[in-house]
Amino acid sequence: MSKPASVLFVCLGNICRSPTAEGVFRKLVEQAGLQDRVHIDSCGTSNWHIGKGPDLRSQEAAVKRGVDISMLKARQFTEKDLDTFDYVVVMDRQNLADVKDIWHQNGGTQPTLFLEYGRSSLAEVPDPYFGGEDGFEEVLDLIEEAGEGLLVDIKERFA
Ligand code: 4NP
Repeated sequence: MSKPASVLFVCLGNICRSPTAEGVFRKLVEQAGLQDRVHIDSCGTSNWHIGKGPDLRSQEAAVKRGVDISMLKARQFTEKDLDTFDYVVVMDRQNLADVKDIWHQNGGTQPTLFLEYGRSSLAEVPDPYFGGEDGFEEVLDLIEEAGEGLLVDIKERFA
């Protein structure tokens, strides 16, 4: 790879799906030995949880798969992120619409739905916040699978 790649995961609150994606994808990147070549971050479209750590249910589900996200802190998406990151990867269609509103004004990296990189028949990573424990497991399953595809895309684009 010639130039480091940068990836930003975006959800609504930055306390469930996108910090999980950040942690899981960092592990995938480390396993591939590419930790110095891929920069990873996450954020939320809302300002609701700025400065807070991930939801404890997300932390617990991630730890069971060997991923520690306890140190992450929520921040809000800004238009500058579209100039900074090579990939702006969103979890659902509402995130896509919200980021695209800013992209239309600002330009920069066009946001993409995360699950486009995977083989799931789902288009969106469902919001687990108001549901039960199963939702957090499903989020991890979807993220692990799409993360593999995203890494393939990065390896091809930044080869
Ligand atoms: P996330 O989940 O977007 O995956 O972080 C949510 C977290 C908090 C809320 C909604 C979704 N909330 O309504 O506070």
